[in-house]
Amino acid sequence: MRFLPDGDSMKAADKDTIENLGIPSLELMERAARSCIDSMKKEKLDFTDVLIVCGSGNNGGDGFAIARLLKEEGCAVTVFMAGNPAHLSAECRYQWKLFESIGGSIRDHYPDGTYSLIIDAIFGVGLSREVTGHYREVIEWMNEASGTKVAVDIPSGINAGNGCVLGIAFRADYTVTFQVEKIGLIFYPGKEYAGKVTVTDIGISLRTMEKNKNIAYLPDREEYIRMLPDRPEDSNKGTYGRLLVIAGSKGMSGAAFLNAMAAYRMGAGLVQIYTEESNRIILQALLPEAIITTYTEFDKEEVKRLLSHADAVCIGSGLSRSKTAKKILKTVLSNVEVACVIDADGLNLLAEHLKYTEYLTEGSFILTPHMKEMSRLTGLSVPEIRANRQQVLESLTEEWNVTCVLKDSRTLIGEAGKRTCVNTSGCQALAKGGSGDVLCGVIAGLLAQGISTFEAATLGTYIHGLSGETAARKKNSYSILARDLLESLATTDITN
Ligand code: ACO
Repeated sequence: MRFLPDGDSMKAADKDTIENLGIPSLELMERAARSCIDSMKKEKLDFTDVLIVCGSGNNGGDGFAIARLLKEEGCAVTVFMAGNPAHLSAECRYQWKLFESIGGSIRDHYPDGTYSLIIDAIFGVGLSREVTGHYREVIEWMNEASGTKVAVDIPSGINAGNGCVLGIAFRADYTVTFQVEKIGLIFYPGKEYAGKVTVTDIGISLRTMEKNKNIAYLPDREEYIRMLPDRPEDSNKGTYGRLLVIAGSKGMSGAAFLNAMAAYRMGAGLVQIYTEESNRIILQALLPEAIITTYTEFDKEEVKRLLSHADAVCIGSGLSRSKTAKKILKTVLSNVEVACVIDADGLNLLAEHLKYTEYLTEGSFILTPHMKEMSRLTGLSVPEIRANRQQVLESLTEEWNVTCVLKDSRTLIGEAGKRTCVNTSGCQALAKGGSGDVLCGVIAGLLAQGISTFEAATLGTYIHGLSGETAARKKNSYSILARDLLESLATTDITN
């Protein structure tokens, strides 16, 4: 498991290391500078003419320390002071003086000439507001200059807590980040601005993060493997659970198919589909392994009867927002006694009838909104959610006592009041209609096998992403369809 802190949590870890573990800040800076140079050397970067652009905080201090170490090695180093010399942090001032003491010169105007390497040490995790004025111009100038670009800790202008660009950001080819990846290097566009990211160990203790449930994390492969349901030889279809899929209105049979087939591919023992009558023939042809029950109008007793036989339920994919769909959803929410995934139109109906959320608090529900659906559920705009996704997710899961999968190029999974993790598997091949229906089916298929809601959501999202990667290795990423993911689920090795 890897912690993915924001800027404040990283600063707290820095502070703890300095104040309680007795490693002086200047020692940390020295290690940061050394490790940055070592990483650049490993990448075989060209040190012929190096420009280091420093800010006036401690990131600037790192920059001065890098400049000094490189100069001592005989490199031609130019430092451009972009920060205000009247507002230097104590460490930055010290490093400045040390650099000057070995004959280093510092420019306060745009340097002439070209550089083989441009190192950005303007802002690190201390960036706290929009980049404007002189800083903006300097970053624009650096982005336009030629030469390989390296960011120290995080590209200046990227918010360490969410990956958003605060006005403008440095476009790096490489980022050397210290101790642990900040969450802003995982989410887009921060990830794109950072280029290739190297994490170096400089001895910052992460113990302050251990009990902080607000710090997101990245599960490791072993953790995912531990979550996989057992598949003993001495078993039958009953061992792996019976899933009820409630999906597909008129003309939307595909959603029910993708849900159900994904659940089967994920290992569910038996899948029953409850769908609109016109979908019967096509679904029988597409998936003869499923049991199909259909409706023409709302039948409360039938819904309750189906629920009573299910080990897990998923509802919403292609369901529509019709009156019948609304009544089915309400019946499910108020009667279901097993774990249940709510997707797509199930979420849209929930957003239209927020009073139904009172049924959620007592149950084991997983919500799987994409950004637009999350916007409908919360009343926040998509940019507002992107800028605050972890907090938005955490307050929704706590308020409704649910597990939530907030889908995006990097998906966040949150369990009410307990933990939040990030999924990094997957690729652009997943950006197609039907991909969400497959994810819903994968998660529901895992739930049917009896694992917890958080594990099903986390593992399901991970495996869904892997299946996208598998598909992208076989076909070009333009061509992949949601049904290709179903094939990939069968061929992706999820156990090693
Ligand atoms: N426009 C103008 N100024 C801004 C903006 C903006 N948009 N955003 C932030 N600032 C200012 C802040 O107000 C702050 O200045 P202030 O201290 O006068 O208020 C300054 O920029 C902060 O800049 P940073 O250098 O990003 O932040 P910080 O000083 O916290 O350093 C750090 C970050 C620790 C260097 C981290 O990114 C890093 O590289 N860590 C490596 C380990 C290391 O060197 N540790 C030793 C650090 S010493 C210590 O922690 C005390």
